[in-house]
Amino acid sequence: MRHRATTVVALLATAGFLFSTLPAATAADTVAAPSGVTIPKGYRDWQVIAPSQRDDTDEIRVILGNNIAMKAFRANTLPFPDGTILAKLAWKRVASTEFPKTFIPGVAPRIEFMVKNSKKYASTGGWGFGRFIEGKPADEKVHATCFPCHLANVKDHDFVFTRYAP
Ligand code: HEC
Repeated sequence: MRHRATTVVALLATAGFLFSTLPAATAADTVAAPSGVTIPKGYRDWQVIAPSQRDDTDEIRVILGNNIAMKAFRANTLPFPDGTILAKLAWKRVASTEFPKTFIPGVAPRIEFMVKNSKKYASTGGWGFGRFIEGKPADEKVHATCFPCHLANVKDHDFVFTRYAP
């Protein structure tokens, strides 16, 4: 009897431990930007299209693409096919303490995505735009700025600024 009770306690403890170590489902995975764009799963494993820098905001950026995007960039396919997703990661530029002439990524103020779906997003050049700050989508006012700037500057490149850096 005593043995059985011990076993039960041990089982409960194990179950509790397993439960507590399960990854908590993050709201970031599910909350959508006003366009319906969500943070795509596995985006951090995508390939690099090109890096960029912005001096006035002191930021380093890296633009990544999913497999459909990479294939299109390498083949110079325009417009980009439906299913293309582009990610723009950004970090504040900070001097390395180990080698101060080198700048390295500091805090990440936002991540952004462009999702190609020519039917769903017909009114914004076929692209759905999403900006996320600490995992949470920015508001509608912010999202209203995305397409106009991409339209004004790169309409002849399917509204995409970044060119593939071989
Ligand atoms: C004032 C102009 C401007 C606005 C507004 C803007 N972008 Fe961009 N975007 C750029 C530029 C310039 C680049 C090129 C890469 C860079 O800046 O580092 C870019 C690049 C991107 C990229 C990578 C693909 C590409 O076109 O090169 C994504 C994704 C992106 N922007 C998403 C967004 C989202 C989402 C919003 C709105 C929340 C937005 N952008 C608003 C100027 C803008």
